[in-house]
Amino acid sequence: MQSSDDDTDQTYGYFDDQNYEYVITTPYTPTPWINYLGSNEFYGIISNTAGGYCFDRDPKFRRLTRYRYNSVPLDSGGRYFYIRDENDFWSATGRPATTQLDQYSCRHGMGYSRFNASKNGIATQVTSFIPLDTKAEIHSLVVTNHTQSTKSIDVFSFIEWCLWNAEDDGANFQRNLSTAEVEIEGSTLYHKTEYRERRNHYGFYSVNRQLDGYDTNRESFLGPYRGFDRPEVVEKGQANNSFARGWSPIASHHLKLELAPGESQSLEFVLGYIEVSVDHKWHSKNVINKQPAKDMLTRFDSHEKVMDELGKLNRYWRTLLCKFSVETPDDKFNRAINIWNQYQNMVTFNLSRSASFYESGIGRGIGFRDSNQDTIGFVHMVPEKVRARILDLSSTQKFDGSAYHQYQPLTKKGNANIGGNFNDDPMWLVLSTTNYIKETGDFSILQEMVIYDGQEQATHDHFDHLLRAFMHVINNLGPHGLPLIGRADWNDCLNLNCFSDDPNESFQTTQVGASDVAESVMIAGQFVLYGQEFVDLCQQVGKIELANRSMKHIEKMRKTIEQHAWDGEWYLRAYDSRGKKIGSHKNSEGKIFIESQGFCAMAGIGLNDGKVEQALRSVDKHLATDFGIMLNQPAYSQYDKYLGEISSYPPGYKENAGIFCHNNPWIIIAETMLGHGEKAFEYYRKITPTYLQNRQTLLKTEPYVYCQMIAGKDAANPGEGKNSWLTGTAAWSYYAATQYILGIRPVYQGLSIAPCVLPSWKLIRVQREFRGAQYSIEIHNPHGLSSGKITLSIDGQPVEGNVISSSSFNGQHTVIATMV
Ligand code: GLC
Ligand code: GLC
Repeated sequence: MQSSDDDTDQTYGYFDDQNYEYVITTPYTPTPWINYLGSNEFYGIISNTAGGYCFDRDPKFRRLTRYRYNSVPLDSGGRYFYIRDENDFWSATGRPATTQLDQYSCRHGMGYSRFNASKNGIATQVTSFIPLDTKAEIHSLVVTNHTQSTKSIDVFSFIEWCLWNAEDDGANFQRNLSTAEVEIEGSTLYHKTEYRERRNHYGFYSVNRQLDGYDTNRESFLGPYRGFDRPEVVEKGQANNSFARGWSPIASHHLKLELAPGESQSLEFVLGYIEVSVDHKWHSKNVINKQPAKDMLTRFDSHEKVMDELGKLNRYWRTLLCKFSVETPDDKFNRAINIWNQYQNMVTFNLSRSASFYESGIGRGIGFRDSNQDTIGFVHMVPEKVRARILDLSSTQKFDGSAYHQYQPLTKKGNANIGGNFNDDPMWLVLSTTNYIKETGDFSILQEMVIYDGQEQATHDHFDHLLRAFMHVINNLGPHGLPLIGRADWNDCLNLNCFSDDPNESFQTTQVGASDVAESVMIAGQFVLYGQEFVDLCQQVGKIELANRSMKHIEKMRKTIEQHAWDGEWYLRAYDSRGKKIGSHKNSEGKIFIESQGFCAMAGIGLNDGKVEQALRSVDKHLATDFGIMLNQPAYSQYDKYLGEISSYPPGYKENAGIFCHNNPWIIIAETMLGHGEKAFEYYRKITPTYLQNRQTLLKTEPYVYCQMIAGKDAANPGEGKNSWLTGTAAWSYYAATQYILGIRPVYQGLSIAPCVLPSWKLIRVQREFRGAQYSIEIHNPHGLSSGKITLSIDGQPVEGNVISSSSFNGQHTVIATMV
């Protein structure tokens, strides 16, 4: 095992690879360390003390349970279980009751979280998950009496309902406090707020045992002016059987358990969501149709059934993770690639940037650029979903090739109040599509008929959407012939056409200046890179004339970049609305930016005359730190309205000289293109969480997933992380590590093998499922090289070149690649 960090710091937790889990050992992590439940449509976010919420598809419009962002105490609202014996009460998930536990752990696994606690000889285990294809969270509670005497235990469950529209829920109190309605039948507490009018959905919380009481009204449960830490009902040990009419509806079950010494009892809680057709909404006047809920409950009415569903979920994940697995001499690399990075890729693919502990679920839908990029880390796992997502994104494209920046997951319509004009958006569709085809060999996606801008009358095949994306860049060039930046390119905060003096304006959606001057070198590099992909695709499908024509545009752009975007030691970042350079040695701040170095280098612009080499040296010299590569330097020290939001952040944070992890893999990839295996790896391990265990206290965010931003050298606390989970870093790091470091890269003809690794890696084993075949690949590196040529054999037969070609796609194959 090789790595210069060892894992001595376990202040908050550690990895358990055997079980694909991260084990958290205290409820008081520096920030809530969360996990995601659900793999399709119905999702929950759950912290290491069960804080968080769940929703169906859209965390803004279909939020089931209430959560209080950035509240005091931190992490308020969740699925709580209060356990009470004669002298004491505590929380089975470590919080919100503040009673010190004798034992606590939270194990975040693949799509489930498990909480173990014990107090006074009473042990509890809560297992929380969303079963496959089910719109419900299951919380399975097992209580065990480890004492020598019989124990009478009270269990109180608790969740608080959100009034569906999460934004309204936190704002429109003049209405909200009057609308709540519930029904109670048996052990099921129904939440039917607004069902009387236009909502054809309801929620419920149930348990598979007869109740000893319940509460549905929050204040009755908590008692006046109390918090979740010591609800009155729990303190006194008896539910009030309250019935909510307006105010704040909750669902709490009260159950009394008698446990003999050594005895365990289990309770299966189901927090479900039901949609009904308009014709079948009602059972009788004002009584909701509960049949679908009852049907669902029969699937989870015993511990065996629930564990069976958990088993299915576990098998689902094992199968998914097996599609690509690796064995290198470095356990941390293996752990990242085989488990956590793939897991995060699924989550970012599913949720884009909508719901996390930093994204409130009300602000952002599915991002056009974000989601296109997310596919590149996920397409090998569930290609069908990627295909559908690409087509959804494509349908929000406008006829001129530009795109809505986001769409709402419920309607799949472009989000009009954010609109478009983020001029990097279109070309990401080329990346996602070509990458999808290379993975699957499925060219038929190009013939799918897709509407433009959500309008039925404007329907063309998906290929036409790519062509329009390509042409959008060409049709929007600025004075130097470089692409116009529009509202912003990948860097949302470089707002060159905004000029805002008004703090109430949004930097991204306000456009004060004319937008036909400011140009982006990042988009120029992106255009060359993905434009070339477009040309290759044209050739694949026999559109030779179009390929040739398009190639001319790319060559021209290449020349324009060489002529107008090279600053001497690195690539410029942009020209602003006055034609002034940004990211030049001539600037006093913001002299160098990472994005244009990454994209021009990945596009190979100046590869032959040393520019790429030079640009990467400059990145290393000016931007690299121990914690990752910063976005720009020097940081902007004051607000400049010609730059926009980037200069609004204090130095070292976010886009103003923070380590914006998302773009680090661009440099990693560029380094591998030069054959610099050690440098690429050095950058990789600086931001990859499996290497950061010793830094968990400084990092603050979950040390099992990437975060969007790590504070840069100018910040108060360099190395501190923020905005974990939903970040393009996940997909890009995985893509860089698998396709460029390991070099196992899908191409149209098959699977190419071109590693660029640490010289000390003498043997690498990869299991790769690809287009229906299973490859066991061994990469031998007898001479201790980083990169270079390869000799290849498949099933003992030597092969020319370094591509496993499609003729062998079927069954099991053994591939030996030797670096020579
Ligand atoms: C955020 C956004 C992404 C953007 C990046 C840089 O991560 O989700 O779209 O590219 O910030 O501004
Ligand atoms: C804000 C954030 C930035 C993010 C953008 C998304 O500007 O600072 O990081 O990408 O919003 O719209």
